[in-house]
Amino acid sequence: MNLQAPIGIFDSGYGGLTVFRAIREALPQYDYLYLGDNARAPYGSRSFDTIHAYTWQCVQWMFAQHCPLIILACNTASAKALRNIQQRDLPALHPQERVLGVIRPTAEVIGNYSLTGHVGVLGTKGTIQSDSYPLEIAKLFPQLKVYQQACPLWVPIIEAGEHDSPAADYLVEKYLGSLLSQSRDIDTVLLACTHYPLLSPKILEYLPEHIRLISQGDIVASSLADYLLRHPEMDSRLSRGGSSLFFTTDDESEFEEKGSLFFEKPLRATHLFL
Ligand code: DGL
Repeated sequence: MNLQAPIGIFDSGYGGLTVFRAIREALPQYDYLYLGDNARAPYGSRSFDTIHAYTWQCVQWMFAQHCPLIILACNTASAKALRNIQQRDLPALHPQERVLGVIRPTAEVIGNYSLTGHVGVLGTKGTIQSDSYPLEIAKLFPQLKVYQQACPLWVPIIEAGEHDSPAADYLVEKYLGSLLSQSRDIDTVLLACTHYPLLSPKILEYLPEHIRLISQGDIVASSLADYLLRHPEMDSRLSRGGSSLFFTTDDESEFEEKGSLFFEKPLRATHLFL
């Protein structure tokens, strides 16, 4: 139990790097191990059972690397796999380890951003169909009205490096238009997918000026900092060397090239065969 090890960060692919970037900026002293399941991404439209099986397999690999704490930096995995992992898998198989998601920390603060009490949520089909955001937000801000829109083609165009193309213009206008047509009172729009910050410049071109656009990186980073303060028993199990290791289940050179766009820094990756 004296072993100290990195914090694990997981995503289906590249999106979690936008969250990891913010976490590492806020908490540079820790060691980190990032795993992107690029070979099986995107997760967005996959079934509940498949997303749980893939996520749990990746989480177990990170446990085997001794990570005591793992952040699912993926809304889809947080929406569809986290509950089973926290309530069933961990108590049975890894009672000392912890897995946290990105939905709860976001729901905890989203009500603070809106003046009208009308908030829009953009996410993958899986995240939106799970209703995780309306359900979590209702527990914390019962007066808030939540409008949702699935954007199934955003992750594929982002993964294809087409986030600044005419196709992106078309798809941003399409999904954002559908969201905003649900209520004139929306004054806050949440990017509830960790890939979407790459589309932010394009989204801002189409978003009326009075509407605030929220990404999750800083929210998740400050929630993690707070968690570690409240859990010194976990904090003492984390190694502090300021290192970051990146693993991908697909081609490492492609991960290095595309991943650096999300991470906003060059990175070296290792291929992992799960
Ligand atoms: N980055 C993931 C999220 O936050 C979704 C990407 C995917 O569909 O795999 O939901």
